[in-house]
Amino acid sequence: MFGFRTLGFALLALRASAGPIAKRAEAYYNPADNGGSMLTNAGSLGEPLNVIVSGQSSPDVLSYDGIVNYARAIGFSTECFGIHLGGPQSANLGDGNGWVNQTAELREDYGHANVGTCLESGIGGNHFRVFKQDGGDADSGALFLAASTEEPSTEHHTIIPDGYDIGRDTLVSWALGTTSYGGVTYSTTGENVTGLLQAGTSGINHDIAIDGIVTVLTVTIQ
Ligand SMILES: *[C@@H]1O[C@H](CO)[C@@H](O)[C@H](O)[C@H]1NC(C)=O
Ligand SMILES: *[C@@H]1O[C@H](CO)[C@@H](O)[C@H](O)[C@H]1NC(C)=O
Repeated sequence: MFGFRTLGFALLALRASAGPIAKRAEAYYNPADNGGSMLTNAGSLGEPLNVIVSGQSSPDVLSYDGIVNYARAIGFSTECFGIHLGGPQSANLGDGNGWVNQTAELREDYGHANVGTCLESGIGGNHFRVFKQDGGDADSGALFLAASTEEPSTEHHTIIPDGYDIGRDTLVSWALGTTSYGGVTYSTTGENVTGLLQAGTSGINHDIAIDGIVTVLTVTIQ
């Protein structure tokens, strides 16, 4: 008990000494380095965390409200009237928090404000789940996204063939460059990273093969 408390004070002291201008140095930490995974838990299998919003992004992007506004800027919105159609999933980002449920699920907005996502629920489209890497062991502040493209369905949401890679590339193509929503203008750059996810179908939900690429986005508020 005493040991933990001492450690707590030591960490606080470290943070204090970093000063108010401290900018997070790490874009993200590899979850696998500390017992985590780049696959979500969707039952026995998972979805790939195929997009990372870097911890070097503007801090205001890396909160729940921040990512919701950003998602709207690039063509997504929150789920139709809060009705949750897919089951919640959890992820372990190796940050010491263990398996944590997603903080948000954003669906494609067909350009109709609030009814857009209701439409999407019936006709398929793009969506992503959001998990934040902010536990004390790996506090990059980065957001890990599981992006995918779904079949049209009234009852079940099913990922299309290649739906994870397509979902990632669609999201990234909407995100790159200059976008804006709600008076906030974003500038986004992207970089592909290999070695975090394994290419193929191992552990992947619906037996859908992935190319193993993760796109790291750095989002800067202008
Ligand atoms: C995650 O969500 C499920 C379903 O709502 C719930 O049963 C479970 O307790 C949650 N897990 C955590 C770690 O919060
Ligand atoms: C990442 O790789 C995908 C698939 O090869 C490609 O379509 C995309 O343009 C790449 N993105 C970047 C930012 O290099």
